[in-house]
Amino acid sequence: MLNIAVLVSGGGSNLQALIDAVEAGSINGRIVTVVSNKEGVYALERAKKHNISCKVIPKKGNDSFEEQLTLHLMENDVDLIVLAGFLCILSENFVKTFENKIINVHPSLIPSFCGEGCYGLKVHKAALDYGVKVTGATVHYVNNIVDGGKIIAQKAVDVLEGDTPETLQKRVMEEAEWVILPKVVADICNKRRKEEKDG
Ligand code: GRF
Repeated sequence: MLNIAVLVSGGGSNLQALIDAVEAGSINGRIVTVVSNKEGVYALERAKKHNISCKVIPKKGNDSFEEQLTLHLMENDVDLIVLAGFLCILSENFVKTFENKIINVHPSLIPSFCGEGCYGLKVHKAALDYGVKVTGATVHYVNNIVDGGKIIAQKAVDVLEGDTPETLQKRVMEEAEWVILPKVVADICNKRRKEEKDG
């Protein structure tokens, strides 16, 4: 079974989708830790409700943030790191340490509306301002280019007449993010299991 770490900064609805999939038995792995870079975020409550151990490693003014994070992930023997609404950019060094083990969910069809500074509602506002008729979500590996790693899965979502950034964000989460993120994690776990079996 793969040891999964979920890194969060906010509400944790993507974390919830993963918890639900693990509890339903569709992910053959366990969430060993939830790490937040901020105190008091709702994602931590979600983890606690399901008896998942969590840790806050504050980023602001913390020169050893990545060192602490690396140590914590290594101590937990983590196989897969899922960035689920995690708003910190990770260094090249960190990404190298966990090469091909970090995935991220982004609320647009990459390469549209992504990159540094394009997160949360800003993504949906940019999509509406541009006038696209279709948006969606992407799950990708994390490399040293923000939102630039290999794409693993995408799902399209229609933009509707009268959408606001808020209504679009909600639809993209419900129809795309919460669907493709657990699916990708399940696929990675199954693939790893098969590799181990086949030796
Ligand atoms: C999601 O749209 C995610 O794709 C983005 O930030 C939002 C956070 O959602 N990176 P949540 O914290 O999982 O509810």
